[in-house]
Amino acid sequence: MNLFAKKDLAAVIKEATDPQIAEGHHGLKRSLGAFHLTMLGIGAIIGAGIFSLTGAAAANYAGPGIVYSFVLGGILCAFAGLCYAELASMIPVAGSAYAYSYTTMGELIAWIIGWDLILEYAFGAVVVSIAWSGYLVQVFESLTHVFPGPGGDATRSAFHLSDSILLFTKGPFEEITLASGQTTHGLWNVPATVVSIICGAVLYRGITESAWVNNLIVVVKVIIVCVFILLGIGLVLPENLFVNAHASGLMALVPEPTMVDGESHYGWGLGGVLTGAGVVFFAYIGFDAVSTTAQEAKNPQRDLPIGILGSLVICTVLYILVALTLTGVVHYSQLGVPAPIAVGINRIVELRGWDPTAASTFTFFVKVGAISGLTSVILVMMLGQTRIFYAMAKDGLLPWFDKTHPSYKSPHIATVVTGVFVAIAGGSMPMHLVGELVSIGTLLAFVLVCLGVPILRRTNPDQPRPFKVPAPWVIGVLGALSCAYVMYGLPLDTWLRLLVWLVIGFVIYFTYGRHHSLLQKAQAAK
Ligand code: ALA
Repeated sequence: MNLFAKKDLAAVIKEATDPQIAEGHHGLKRSLGAFHLTMLGIGAIIGAGIFSLTGAAAANYAGPGIVYSFVLGGILCAFAGLCYAELASMIPVAGSAYAYSYTTMGELIAWIIGWDLILEYAFGAVVVSIAWSGYLVQVFESLTHVFPGPGGDATRSAFHLSDSILLFTKGPFEEITLASGQTTHGLWNVPATVVSIICGAVLYRGITESAWVNNLIVVVKVIIVCVFILLGIGLVLPENLFVNAHASGLMALVPEPTMVDGESHYGWGLGGVLTGAGVVFFAYIGFDAVSTTAQEAKNPQRDLPIGILGSLVICTVLYILVALTLTGVVHYSQLGVPAPIAVGINRIVELRGWDPTAASTFTFFVKVGAISGLTSVILVMMLGQTRIFYAMAKDGLLPWFDKTHPSYKSPHIATVVTGVFVAIAGGSMPMHLVGELVSIGTLLAFVLVCLGVPILRRTNPDQPRPFKVPAPWVIGVLGALSCAYVMYGLPLDTWLRLLVWLVIGFVIYFTYGRHHSLLQKAQAAK
């Protein structure tokens, strides 16, 4: 048995693109064009990263230099995005990075990547569902100010959440501070569970409906982000932005490095802009989910690169403008809060001299926008997961998940399993435990995709590539090295969790996958 057996690239491409083989064989429905794919990318990208993490990254690490963290994160993702675009246009199959590595590095590495992608997609959805729940509580909080109780008392508003309800907004491993001031553990994160089940139900209904729901949400969240930028960009205060008296020009955006409790903060390196880039990397995750819909795209070879790179470019520009606006209107030291954009809106209202009640209404809309934004991230992340399971099952490495619904054409068994998993994990797991696992898992996939491009240029030089990465050795190697460097900066316990996760994967592969692998069976029969 050859653990590094590779699938034949030409056969994979023929199966995925030949309309006759593809239609009868894979059962998924081709309905997505370039616009839908770009919207799916934006749907997966803009979420908890920009709405929650930006503030803490600015407050703790980069100050207004968070703008550079976003630039660095954008460059790193551009390397990976270009490589994804080449491979997705060349090998347009649902398995994305899993399928690319099956043809470049063999079955065992493909299994590792497929298993690793669960960290990105399923656990990504888990993290964002927990953030979703946090924002829902915030929406209720805003409503108590918009519609206060008798005498203007927010605590007597109909929207005030009692302690017994709050206990069901956090999982059993997360702390919660009750209205009485008492700190305790939550019981179950019901909103996280409910939103995952709803997203699962939409996905079950089929790709066309899912794309439609995603488009609607993306419009709402992009409007919110643009309104924030347009209202705030003219109000940025130079004293908030140019915080380093010892530097000049744009360099002054980065605060001077300082030691706090023996740890270095701010400056350009670790503890500063660089660490900030590692944190905001989470905000970019998702563009690659576009590639998992390859078998549902009408013209994947042309449209996948547009979807992947288009969504990445749009979000990078928006992120840099949001970061500039936010740190320009609010001093970075005040941004270490769960909903920094809402703090920014309050400040914009104040600077414009508008009625303070307008602030509550605005903040309310921003939070609703954030909630809708997070919903599409959960939706598209879960979508990506179901397509990865589907592709792995088609190759025989997993059971059942290759079945498609007779009328909806969705991989319904994979969808139900993903939905139930995300619902249970979102209800019970603590966010901090899962968050960094998502980043390390995604980075590992990016490293292998970046390496896959130069490898395939060497092994299959004549294979048609509708989209070609310029200077593939430079971009591929730089992409892999920069992702590996960000992985290196992640804490040791995150590495250990990744290791444990991979060991679980090996156990499943060696007890099930390799005995059922269609490729192994075909090779044994020769
Ligand atoms: N990029 C996604 C988010 O920020 C994962 O929520």
